[in-house]
Amino acid sequence: MKTMRPKPGANDLTTQSATTTAEIGAPTPPSGKTVFVKTYGCQMNVYDSERIAESLAPSGFRPVATPEEADLVVLNTCHIREKAAEKVYSELGRIRKLREARRAEGKDMVIAVAGCVAQAEGEEIFARASAVSIVVGPQSYHRLPALMREAEAGTRTIDIDFPAKSKFEALPERPHPAAPAAFLTVQEGCDKFCTFCVVPYTRGAEFSRPPSQVLGEAERMARAGVKELTLLGQNVNAYHGEAEDGSVWSLARLLKAIAAIPGIERLRYTTSHPADMREDLIAAHRDLPVLMPYLHLPFQAGSDRILAAMNRRHTAADYLRLIDRIRAARPGIALSTDIIVGFPGETEEDFRHTLRVVEAVGYAQAYSFKYSPRPGTPAAALSDQVPDAVKSERLDRLQQLLNAQQAAFNSACVGRSFSILLERKGRKPGQLTGRSPYMQAVHVAAEERLLGQIVDVEITASGANSLTGVINRRDHHGMVQDMKRESDAYGR
Ligand code: SAH
Ligand code: SF4
Ligand code: F3S
Repeated sequence: MKTMRPKPGANDLTTQSATTTAEIGAPTPPSGKTVFVKTYGCQMNVYDSERIAESLAPSGFRPVATPEEADLVVLNTCHIREKAAEKVYSELGRIRKLREARRAEGKDMVIAVAGCVAQAEGEEIFARASAVSIVVGPQSYHRLPALMREAEAGTRTIDIDFPAKSKFEALPERPHPAAPAAFLTVQEGCDKFCTFCVVPYTRGAEFSRPPSQVLGEAERMARAGVKELTLLGQNVNAYHGEAEDGSVWSLARLLKAIAAIPGIERLRYTTSHPADMREDLIAAHRDLPVLMPYLHLPFQAGSDRILAAMNRRHTAADYLRLIDRIRAARPGIALSTDIIVGFPGETEEDFRHTLRVVEAVGYAQAYSFKYSPRPGTPAAALSDQVPDAVKSERLDRLQQLLNAQQAAFNSACVGRSFSILLERKGRKPGQLTGRSPYMQAVHVAAEERLLGQIVDVEITASGANSLTGVINRRDHHGMVQDMKRESDAYGR
């Protein structure tokens, strides 16, 4: 088993590995090279992929939409579960064939592996995938332009350091953002060491960006038209940024300062750990209208014995009390969570405690996973691993319950009106897609000129994962009524 460096975490959504082609990018000379970045894993990787593309812009790299056209292909990878990590190797096989096709046309392609697999596996990647020339970790990708020069000179290069000076200080200032809703990483790494999790090893120790750096980035984004910001961190609610005057800012204080930036109309943050949900942050949900009524708060397991073995630092009763306090502060808040089934030693009785927590809370949406033993983590070495068939059966039962809760939450929205930020073109012509305050995707019949606007939408239909709606006529009386309806919507 490979040991990883014990350094520094995410809400992850590896189930939905996104392909990001950062279309952002300062104008570059047309003679320049091209880069394609593919993203796996959590939102932090989505943010990193954008910054990877931006870091290459000053060296003349222009982002392109497909790997076929790229001089440099970067796979920004995720190591959270075995499946996520293995996906990278099958993709590398495909990319290598594309490179052969380019070589037949007299062009070349440099292949780089970035992200959490790069950090965890390091040199081993060269051994398993000989086409790879660059391996670069999540804290050192600002060095990609230099690594690229070495790769072009024919040298394989690896940089998986955790530099003392953060990448944020070295990266070029962000260009004009492409979308009205954007991510902003404020905290990285994790010191919690849950026994199942690779993040403390792949991302390094917990680290908070200074408030002035975050506020500067948020202000520039707002000036460029960003209306919704999601603050990111593997443990974002452990944020403790040191200001120039020596004071230490909590996430609540940071949210309040960002809420005051003109143009920022909606705020979110993810992912939070229950043990770091402090009183001032809970109060922010009551006091900050721009803070959206949605919270992703993983609980992982409902059995106290399993929670202790996971090193989660809370019991099921602690979690339920916390949910009560959050709901008291912000009635109607929509909740989301992460759950693992089949952690070593989990019995049927333990698993029933997980179902009971889900029943007690009532989630608007959730992510659930079969436990995947990860190299170098303490839980992988436990002897009482749960058979895969048992994990699958528990996951099925859990997902049936979660899907029913999500469907009920979605169908309760029909007939209600919400403000929707129209973020992108929809799948059908004449449709734009955005998110409700509760994070649901909403497909709205709307003209393209409304892209980037926040509109008042009446929900006409609900599906398993999304809603459909039409724009309300904006008379004053109607608006007032709709807002009232929205605030009544989710008191449970
Ligand atoms: N920082 C967040 C979550 C980080 S990882 C938190 O503390 O809650 C995202 C999710 O992946 C976790 O919440 C967990 O549910 C899941 N996960 C992490 N390691 C896993 C593993 N080894 N097997 C299965 N799921 C895992
Ligand atoms: Fe992983 Fe636990 Fe850290 Fe979350 S808190 S990133 S699950 S170690
Ligand atoms: Fe995110 Fe996956 Fe790394 S969840 S932090 S990209 S291991």
